Amino acid sequence: MNRSFIAIVALLCSLAASARERVCFDSDWKFILGDSAQMASPEYNDAHWRKLNVPHDWAIEGDFYAGNPSGASGGALPGGIGWYRKNVKIEKCNNVKIFLEFDGVYMNSTVYVNGHEVGFRPYGYSSFEYDITPYVHEGENVVAVRVDNSDQPNSRWYSGCGIYRHVWLTKTNPIHIKHWGVYIHDGKVEVDFVNPTNQRVKVVNELLDATGKPVPLSFRASTPMSSRPKRRDLSTTLEMTGLSRDLSTPVEMTGLSRDLSTTLEMTMPSRALSTLKKWSCESPYIYKVRTQLIAGGKVVDEVETTTGFRDFRFDAKTGFWLNGKNFKINGVCEHHDFGCLGAALSEDALHRKLVKLRAMGVNAIRCSHNPPAPELLNMCDTMGLIVMDESFDMWRRKKTQNDYARFFDEWHERDLTDLVLRDRNHPSVLMWSIGNEVLEQWSSADADTLTLEQANLILNAGHDASTLAKDGELSVQSLLTQHLAEIVKRYDTTRPITAGCNEPSPNNHLFKSGTIDIIGFNYHHENVKDVPRNFPGKPFIFSESVSALQSRGYYMMPSDSIYKAPKQWWLPYTDPSFMCSAYDNMHASWSSTHEETWDVVKHNAFVAGQFIWTGFDYIGEPTPYGFPARSSYFGLIDLAGFPKDSYYMYQSEWTDKPMLHLFPHWNWLPGQEIDLWAYYNQADEAELFINGKSQGIRKKSRNASSRPSTPMSSRATSRDLSTSVEMTEGEALMTGVEDGALTTEVGGGGRMTEAPGEDGAPMSSRAQSRDLSTEYHVAWRVRFEPGEIKVVTRKSGKEVCTQTIRTAGAPDHIRLSVDYKGKDLTFITAEVVDKDGNLCPWADNQIHFKGNVVATDNGCQTSMERFTAPTRRAFHGKCLVIVRGSGTLAAQSIDLGQASLNF
Ligand code: GAL
Repeated sequence: MNRSFIAIVALLCSLAASARERVCFDSDWKFILGDSAQMASPEYNDAHWRKLNVPHDWAIEGDFYAGNPSGASGGALPGGIGWYRKNVKIEKCNNVKIFLEFDGVYMNSTVYVNGHEVGFRPYGYSSFEYDITPYVHEGENVVAVRVDNSDQPNSRWYSGCGIYRHVWLTKTNPIHIKHWGVYIHDGKVEVDFVNPTNQRVKVVNELLDATGKPVPLSFRASTPMSSRPKRRDLSTTLEMTGLSRDLSTPVEMTGLSRDLSTTLEMTMPSRALSTLKKWSCESPYIYKVRTQLIAGGKVVDEVETTTGFRDFRFDAKTGFWLNGKNFKINGVCEHHDFGCLGAALSEDALHRKLVKLRAMGVNAIRCSHNPPAPELLNMCDTMGLIVMDESFDMWRRKKTQNDYARFFDEWHERDLTDLVLRDRNHPSVLMWSIGNEVLEQWSSADADTLTLEQANLILNAGHDASTLAKDGELSVQSLLTQHLAEIVKRYDTTRPITAGCNEPSPNNHLFKSGTIDIIGFNYHHENVKDVPRNFPGKPFIFSESVSALQSRGYYMMPSDSIYKAPKQWWLPYTDPSFMCSAYDNMHASWSSTHEETWDVVKHNAFVAGQFIWTGFDYIGEPTPYGFPARSSYFGLIDLAGFPKDSYYMYQSEWTDKPMLHLFPHWNWLPGQEIDLWAYYNQADEAELFINGKSQGIRKKSRNASSRPSTPMSSRATSRDLSTSVEMTEGEALMTGVEDGALTTEVGGGGRMTEAPGEDGAPMSSRAQSRDLSTEYHVAWRVRFEPGEIKVVTRKSGKEVCTQTIRTAGAPDHIRLSVDYKGKDLTFITAEVVDKDGNLCPWADNQIHFKGNVVATDNGCQTSMERFTAPTRRAFHGKCLVIVRGSGTLAAQSIDLGQASLNF
């Protein structure tokens, strides 16, 4: 008998008539990729099945293949049907309720207990619970879960397959608080519970501070009662006589056998009130409310709910305010995968992600485009990250052939309700988004006849006025918007509703509904200036922005040329390099550079903030390419977790700690013209030295020679300051640029493109050290000579930071270092370096790892190596290996010395 099994038995026996217990139900499942109706049966022989623990994602274990039905947009990894089974011994005690809770199963899960079907759930991102009491018996029980992700494509990004989040087994008394039955809001605690017995029930709430100590305050009934109980200062218990659901008529609870709801108002003695700590981004103070049901003198149920106190508002003129402080929401959009670990939830991987984003200055996450793992919200609560909690990527109109649209009519109310019920106590959640770029924005927009790649791109197509709402018309689409907003407000009125809209017209059917509290644009930064006029009195946020395209370590020059790929959403785009430029000079046709977008956000007070697409690269949607590209280029951090250069632009703008980031590397061909950029803060100038020789002092300035754009400028205006390069398959590399562009092949496969100077002469004949600086970076155009480059920043003449990069020699050995140490997993960086320890920026050596390897990655969007393989090529000199537990990791590569690291 294994340990977790004993624990469950002990749990189930210990509960007789006491409070609830909830145990993790993750371990000792058996799994098979295949399908048979017999697999639900308790008698089925699963002896040959693979043993594993969940969270688990079977797709990540597979090979990339162009023929996989998910397509490159879905990550080109397999789907299919899989089964999980788990045996559990239950000492059934009388008078108990037993629940099985799944945080998320992708997708179409059917759960069986002892061969009885207990429920089906199509949406792969919803959390759900089943009451399995009627189906369990004393002794051996079998839980079987069928997961069907065979109808593909059903997602515009990588979904993963399987029981990819935690599972819980809960046992309660028959008198118990309902699933997600406690709601803390506006200084009140609302408790929904079940009382099937003839007993008098007392509801007791206690507020606990971060150390678990009770906070002095009292609770009283918040609705008028004929005999309202006396307020008891410093007491935290209140005996309720029972309130009916509508809270208007007090009812006796004794003898009732139905669902009940009570609302208790927290009342704080004035001294305590002033000492209650606020939840904020800098100091995210967390309280808990402990709710107990007491019957017959015993605690029959108890739950603890995390909460926090904060005041916030979105203002049409001044943007976002939290606890009286006005600041920008500096957010990123995130999909749910963890790169090479796939969709399977790992708290370590999640925490690593958030720590890296926090270090960049991020203060908000948009859970795009679906309900997140509960752990993400818990971490955002404790790390002080604001959350936009989003429900759907589509409503009734599908974006991919087999997506959630086919379930929407039957399931949307349940899924949206469950999202709000589950997440409404989290202090971090400050907005609900009822949808992302849903096609209901327009009167007609069908993606039925498109390929997945086209469907991904059509979201950003221009739609003409005839597809918008007519004056005075309240369309079906607007009614549907109202309906979804009403569902949210039914369960939470404390947060505004928004939606990620890529139709900026006020005649967008969603806006026309009048129920979108915060106008949310995806892209369309050029339309932002019209928001105050088009949406008078409405707050505004960039629900999604930027969509820059970058490969870590790859640079397309000249850096002040904007590379748009594809040129228009419907045009294909190919480049045999399958790379995108890591200067902030390449983006999709509907989007903009980082600097250009941040400029609009920064300089317009009414813009509450933005959610950049995206913080991390994710698997799937490799715009602008198709297979063999299989992961995205949009991230500020690559799939392996290594920051790209633009990460530091935000760090320089969003954080105060002095920093400096100089790029690119210093390994080029002699005489080659190179653009060197630096991001810095806390200084008023930067000076570059090449082999000790000054290349001039640069200052970031709003009036710098090339600004990202004037605020609210159209793209045409912004292009005045840089050369636009629009790239399309079948055209010469630099088509779209003024005549005379040059293409230079350089060692290691890099391609540098040169657009002509204003005088028509190639760049190389221009003056050395040309100032390419903007308000957000400084830059020098220089000629390469091997040796050392160094940047010094100064404030009032005093040195603040310096950074030096040296030309690397031949790859010599591997350097291993810990990138992040979690509780279970350690993330280790392997770098190929020369004999002096300089990173070799072109190195792509194949590295073999020995140790407890879980997965490897290098951030390259086209790497076809299996994520679970213990071997990985370096990409621009680096790769990542994830190991479990503790031990020694050894790394080996032909021609390089062996390295090892204890972890
Ligand atoms: C948006 C969409 C995102 C992603 C992004 C890529 O339109 O909401 O899911 O597809 O475009 O630029």
